[in-house]
Amino acid sequence: MKFFVDTADTAEIKELAETGLIDGVTTNPSLVAKSGRPFKEVIEEICGLTNGPVSAEVVATDFETMVSEGKTLAAIADNVAVKLPLTWDGLRACRALADQDIAVNVTLCFSANQALLAAKAGAAFISPFIGRLDDINIDGMELISEIRIIYDNYLFETEILAASIRSANHVKLSAMAGADVATVPPNVIKGLASHPLTDKGLAAFLADAEKGGVKV
Ligand code: E4P
Repeated sequence: MKFFVDTADTAEIKELAETGLIDGVTTNPSLVAKSGRPFKEVIEEICGLTNGPVSAEVVATDFETMVSEGKTLAAIADNVAVKLPLTWDGLRACRALADQDIAVNVTLCFSANQALLAAKAGAAFISPFIGRLDDINIDGMELISEIRIIYDNYLFETEILAASIRSANHVKLSAMAGADVATVPPNVIKGLASHPLTDKGLAAFLADAEKGGVKV
């Protein structure tokens, strides 16, 4: 499974990219606003920090302006994936951009039928929002499983990008349900490496090494 980092904070992206564990980045208008930096400037910098796809989202809601904003974003760097909302106009814009070989990430997906439409519209990625479904007591993982079945039934190449990931458990369950990608906040990615028994075991090994004079 690929890991994208879900942030517009370039310092955090740089730190994680250097580990070699990150395959791309996703942003959204809220994350860009939080960075406090101009949109194009921050996307351009992020695109230089990874060779993988960097999702940059339009803010228009009508077909023509979404296509125009999508082209502007795609011109920033070769690895931009234009993020479009899962609306009727968003699906039309997805098809128009995909036909021009521009990668599209269709976002704000909350149902399997929405995901089916996004695949038919030529999306490179579909982003089901796990955490926001959990917030309203709907099992987000069931949605990932449903989309996996539908895409496999028809050999759609659209990648399932599990989004709105809030916990290590979300990452594990997304991987088990067959998501192609998980986009994960930096603190959650770092937390995946932690286990209290790892810490305890390491402390015991180091104490024994010191006691026994073990040196490498
Ligand atoms: C990523 O593409 C999404 O914008 C992001 O994962 C949303 O996460 P949230 O629901 O925690 O805001």
